[in-house]
Order: sequence, then C-alpha cells, then structure tokens
Amino acid sequence: MCGIIGYNGSSDPKEILIDGLKRLEYRGYDSAGIAILEKEHVDVYRSKGRIEKLEDKLVGKHFTGSLGIGHTRWATHGAPNEINAHPHRVGSVTLVHNGIIENYLDLKEALKAQKRKIASETDTEIVAHLFDIEIQKGSSLQNAVRAVIPQLKGSYAFVVMSDQEPDVLLGVRHGAPLLVGIGEKENFLASDVQAILHRTNKVIYLNDDEYVICRKKSVEVFNFNGQPVQFEIKTIQWTPDQMEKGGYRHFMLKEIYEQGQAVANTLENKIDLAKGLVSIPELQKHLDLLKRVKSISIVACGTARHAALVGKYYIEKFARVAVDVDFGSEFRYRDPILDKESLTILISQSGETADTLAAQKEAKLKGVKTLAICNVRESTLARESDMVIYTQAGPEIGVASTKAFTTQLVVLYLVALELGLMRGALTEAQAREYTSDVLKLPFLIENTLSLEQKVEQISSHLQKKDFFFYLGRDVNYPIALEGSLKLKEISYAHAEGYPAGEIKHGPIALIDKKVATIVLTPSATSSETNPDTTSGILYEKMMSNLQEVKSRGGMIISIGSGEDKKLTNESNFYLGIPKTTWALNPILLTIPLQLLAYHVAVGRGTDVDKPRNLAKSVTVE
Ligand code: M6R
Repeated sequence: MCGIIGYNGSSDPKEILIDGLKRLEYRGYDSAGIAILEKEHVDVYRSKGRIEKLEDKLVGKHFTGSLGIGHTRWATHGAPNEINAHPHRVGSVTLVHNGIIENYLDLKEALKAQKRKIASETDTEIVAHLFDIEIQKGSSLQNAVRAVIPQLKGSYAFVVMSDQEPDVLLGVRHGAPLLVGIGEKENFLASDVQAILHRTNKVIYLNDDEYVICRKKSVEVFNFNGQPVQFEIKTIQWTPDQMEKGGYRHFMLKEIYEQGQAVANTLENKIDLAKGLVSIPELQKHLDLLKRVKSISIVACGTARHAALVGKYYIEKFARVAVDVDFGSEFRYRDPILDKESLTILISQSGETADTLAAQKEAKLKGVKTLAICNVRESTLARESDMVIYTQAGPEIGVASTKAFTTQLVVLYLVALELGLMRGALTEAQAREYTSDVLKLPFLIENTLSLEQKVEQISSHLQKKDFFFYLGRDVNYPIALEGSLKLKEISYAHAEGYPAGEIKHGPIALIDKKVATIVLTPSATSSETNPDTTSGILYEKMMSNLQEVKSRGGMIISIGSGEDKKLTNESNFYLGIPKTTWALNPILLTIPLQLLAYHVAVGRGTDVDKPRNLAKSVTVE
C-alpha cells in the first residue's frame, strides 16, 4: 500500500526516482509525485493517476540536486487527486508516507488552533507540519523525529528531507516496511527491494521502531529512544531480470507460466530423496510442539486465505489435527481461543499484510507459537515468526496472486504430510506415496498449461457475461472461491464461489441464461495405500449440481480430469486437467481458472497487472 523511494547519491535523481516508482507501482497507483532538493529550493511535482502522468509533467525538466524522494499512492485519507498526492511540503520539510496516522484528526485540530494552514485532506501532511514545527525551533531532523514520533498513533513509514540538511534523508519505520539499499557512494530508501534491486542487492531491513539517517556515503540506524542500533547488510538472492516481463504481455501471464518451476523450487530441500519422504528442515527445531499440538489456526487474507482453506483439508485428512481458518481482519477481534498446545499458521505472499501481521501479534500475545508461510524473505511476518517456510515462487508482481498461491498449497501439503507422519496419522508407506505424488507436480502443471488456447477460446464466449458462479465441493471448494476472486479482481465481473451443495439453499435463484457457471468436477486417482472413496461420490454429487444449474438455463463450463465424455456432453464447454490425486487436484484446477480470469480480463480491456482500486501489498488494516 503506497510505495516510497528515496535517493541520496550523485546520479540523476529524477531518473532513479521515476524508475523506482514504476517498479513500486503495484503497491498503489492512483497518484504519484517526486521532490528533489536543489541548491536553493525544493522542486515538487505531483499528479493524479499513473506514473506516466507524472513523467509527462517532467518532460524537459533537469535537476542538479542529488537528494530526492518519490511516492506512488493508494488513497486512504483524501481523494486520489494532486493536492493529496505525496510528497507533502510544509515550510522547509518535504515528506512521503506509507501507512495510516490514526489520531490525525486530533492532531489536525491542534494544528489549526496554532493557525497552521492545512492544504490537503491527508494524514501525511499533518506529520509534515509536526516536523516543520520542530525544525522551525532549530532542531535537526534527528531531534525532530524524536519529538514527532511520540505524538503519532498508527502504523507508518516515512522518508523526510529538510532544506536545512541537504545531505540527509531520514527514514522511519513503525509498522510499515522500509529498507535501505547500500550502493557505491549512494544510498537508497524504499518500501520494497523491487524498487532498487537493479541498482544494488545489498540491503538493510529496518526493524519496527527504528529510524535511519541516510547520507551519500554512510548510514546510521537508531531505535526510537535515539540509541544507535547495530545492523546487518544482507545480500538479496532475487535477480533483477526476475522482475521483468520476459516477453509476456503481462506479469500475470508470466507468473502463471512460472508455476511449474516455482513449485519445483519450493519442493527442493523439503524431501529426503534417499528415504522418499517429506522432511522440512524449518520444522525440525519444533518437533516436540508439532507432535503434541492439539489444534491449528490458519490466518490469512484474500488468495492466501483460500490456500489456508485447502490447508485445512490437507492437515485434517493427513494429520488428523483440527484446523480452523480465519480472515486476518477478523481473527484478533474475536478473542480467539488459543492455548499453548496450539499452533497458528500465517500465510502471506508479501509478509507485510497488516491484517495478517495483526493476527500474528494476537497469537504471540496469547503465547502461541507461529509458523509463517511466506514468499518474501526478511518480510515482517517472516522475521516475527518462530518458524518460517518460504515459498520459492520468486518475485510476484501482478496484483492478482497466482504462483504464490500454488506454492502455498504445496507447502501446506508438505506440512500436512510431515505432521501426519510424525504423529502417526500416516504410515510410512502412505507418506512415501503422497511424497512421490507431489514430485510429479511440476510436470503435471506444465501439461495443464497447454490448456491455454482452449481457455482463450472459451473466454471469448464469456466477455459479455456479468455474473459468474464457481462451484466446487470438498477440497476443491476453496478453489471455486479462488477462481471467482481472480475473475472479479481483474475483469470487474461479479463472481461468487460456492460449495456446490449450497446453491440450492438460495443462490440458485440467481441462475438464468445470462449466468455462466464454472463447475469443478475432477475425479481422483487412488491406490491401495491411499484408496480415495470420497471423490467418486462427490463426482456424482457434482453432476447433480451441474444438472440443477443446466436445467435453469445457465451456461456450464466444467473442468474435470482427462477426457470425460459425460461431463463434455453435459456442458457447454469442457476442460480436462491431467488426472491426479484428491490432494493435488486443487493445484491443477487453479491453473485453468487463472487463465480464464486472465483472458476474460484481457478481452474486456482491463489493466490486468494493476486492476482498479487494488494494491499488491495491503499494509493498512
Ligand atoms: O501478500 P498477501 O499474501 O498477504 O496478500 C493477501 C491478499 O491481499 C492477496 O492475496 C489479494 O487477495 C490478491 N490480490 C489476490 O489475488
């Protein structure tokens, strides 16, 4: 939510800031701005809309200064217009901000009482005034920050510059991410490593309640008490070309196609190939707890929560431990019943989602151990957890989550197997068979991707539909939710995911010939060690639900396993994924649903990678 970049060096700041903002645009894109400190003055340029609009304003402008800040916004306080866009300049202070100042109305009233003129509707400008008050008293930025912070409630990251200190960028972190990029005689501040990775892979991750004084050739970090803090410079493993589209029209499509590799990378190191059994190194320190754990809560938001719902099926089936799943935004407000014999799993691609972090805090307050399943190294979620398993999806840039989701499912599958094995809920023979199944997944994913052309053809019949149902049962029900979320977020069509057996309790009233229904009806392969009795029954039940929709005139797009004459005959369109097991069906089913959402969205001409009103990383509650 909102992207921040700061630069202190000798290169052209305009180019560095604009380029950084483009790479951060996924965090918010309703307005943008930059400010550059020149010898005698500060130049601030802001505009409503995407970064290109800002670039238009900057055509022909040349800067001689070498200190600058930039911001791309996802509006929280105040409409997305130029006045509310960052940077905000008050007196000799220029500031960009990510997060929310919860007490800004009280602060605003107090500032008005001091006859201060407030130009925008934002909470950010209030902070700029607070800094200006201190600087007018003669404080340095460092002293000013120590006076301002105690006045603020909420979560935030700022980058501030003052005309009085033309060699300093000040960065502050409290509940919203901020990192320092270390270059050769130049340094950067950014919300996310993506903004600077092509310039340096050496990074300092600020901890919460730290601020940094960033000069061209030096960096000093302090805690909120003003004491210097030791920091570690980490080397980022992601490479800059992983951040490019690589010939694909959109990041989303590229990321859909990367799923086979992402899954293979995620499996690496988590299987003891000699024994043919899952073995997750990240869990080994906590085996005692994991063996006796009585219940598990999984908490996440959006797509990651759909992964959590599939995880519930996996863990309950393989490990026989009771699992409840909650929304990050709900968990802590219901005073969840957690005891020390329980485990809380938090799932997040970014590791910076505010609601998920708040849930993690709640679990920790209750003395519960936490396991993070996360894609971004050194993210807040990862650093605050007792155990972390990284999904090795690589950078995910498209706002619609794709490869992060499928790799989350793979991690949950492996965790369920490991728990099942250590707790005796699975025999070694069963665990070995399930382990060998998952090793085939990258190959099965590659095969599933070959459905794209057919999916594209089907989607051409769906462009004008405004209402979609996604139906599934059992472990495939969360995939119906995920399919519908994917479609609605990028194509803006209304879509609902339902457990197929539930539609007769109300939603079926909506079915008519204008509605398209996507029916997930895979069958499952089974074996002697792992006989699967449910899939056969559920297949028949799904067929009945399909008939209920069909007989009311609804269009049917069904997704089944391999060639399926029955489903083909009963449906307007049929897609067959490769035959696989009960547990791996959800992963393969996801792929045609991602492709369907993608092609419907492209056909409708929406901005697939940056859909309206959304941001990749939601760092406000
Ligand atoms: O970074 P996270 O996984 O915590 O993000 C959670 C959701 O905001 C995210 O999955 C969102 O729902 C995606 N846009 C879905 O595609």
